[in-house]
Amino acid sequence: MEIRKVGVAGCGLMGSGIAEVSAKAGFDVVVREVDDAALAAGRKRVEKSLDRAVSKGKLDGAGRDEALARMTFTTSLDLFADRDLIIEAIVESLDAKKELFGYLDEVCPAQTIFASNTSSLTVTDMAAATARPDRFIGLHFFNPVPVMKLVEVVRTIVTSRETFDAVYAFSSKVGKTPIAAKDNSGFVVNLLLVPYILDAIRQVERGVATIEDIDKAMTLGCGYPMGPFVLGDFVGVDTLYRVAEIMYEEYREERYAAPPLLKRLVTMGRYGRKTGAGFYDWTPDGPVPLKL
Ligand code: CAA
Ligand code: NAD
Repeated sequence: MEIRKVGVAGCGLMGSGIAEVSAKAGFDVVVREVDDAALAAGRKRVEKSLDRAVSKGKLDGAGRDEALARMTFTTSLDLFADRDLIIEAIVESLDAKKELFGYLDEVCPAQTIFASNTSSLTVTDMAAATARPDRFIGLHFFNPVPVMKLVEVVRTIVTSRETFDAVYAFSSKVGKTPIAAKDNSGFVVNLLLVPYILDAIRQVERGVATIEDIDKAMTLGCGYPMGPFVLGDFVGVDTLYRVAEIMYEEYREERYAAPPLLKRLVTMGRYGRKTGAGFYDWTPDGPVPLKL
């Protein structure tokens, strides 16, 4: 089957990027958010990113306008009724995702493929809540979506070959390099990346070094583009916390357990760059690390 019409549920950090790359690649895209404020913020994020591409000379003004014209922003789920593929990028909560897919299962025709961008939930848990587990797949993009080249295409034990092939081909069409991953919590990248960030937090808790020095260590010592704390703020502290909880629940291994400092940040609403503060205060003069 060929995918032409795409739906993206959630227009936060990830959904906005997924909608952008899909529209730039020529797909007709419907983007859904929960309310007008979230929708306006999501649309602004897409516009800002497209403007950035124009200012970098990667896209011309006409390309920007055409991409935007291919996108419909809505708070209604009913506009998903004619989609070939729906990519879910809402909050990392199994209950929220199951509720969304349960509703979409009623609204969408049988052939519509459902994909989740989950970081840590198992795709099987969501697929089992629908009447189309064979047309359900994981499609895990990386942040920032317009820049990061990888997508993990995640097949459950019942995902059909046709669904996998169609979504794998779609990934290439939006300019990404797909890899196939099994449906285990964390797939490939987060299985390695999440314990690394959590370990960095534990080093700060133990007083090994400061947040800024650990970030310096990993950028200057290992050549990573960002240290673990800037990356944590970039991913979203709330998302990282939920991911850690889910992976710990799945594996019961200490390496996935959320350190108390991570929980404290979430309690204080310090969700990272998206809220202006996390491990750092993101001031106009640059990031100021949390003093502990
Ligand atoms: N949207 C669009 N484009 C962006 C962007 C954004 N949010 N941020 C940066 N870019 C583009 C810039 O336009 C620039 O493009 P050119 O090279 O063509 O000029 C390029 O990316 C580099 O940007 P900058 O020079 O401004 O900044 P940088 O060199 O510091 O790079 C970065 C920024 C690409 C984000 C880099 O720091 C990086 O690769 N960081 C690591 C990101 C990472 O590890 N992501 C994975 C997170 S984990 C995940 O996603 C999985 C999960 O489930 C949690
Ligand atoms: P985010 O908090 O930036 O955005 C989530 C958005 O979903 C919010 O704007 C919220 O209003 C919206 N939303 C909630 N319920 C909704 C619903 N029923 N319908 C439509 N919209 C709804 O989160 P994010 O970082 O974009 O993460 C989204 C998903 O992508 C999560 O599953 C996360 O684990 C995964 N993910 C995140 C990253 C990352 O680096 N942040 C990377 C890969 C995957």
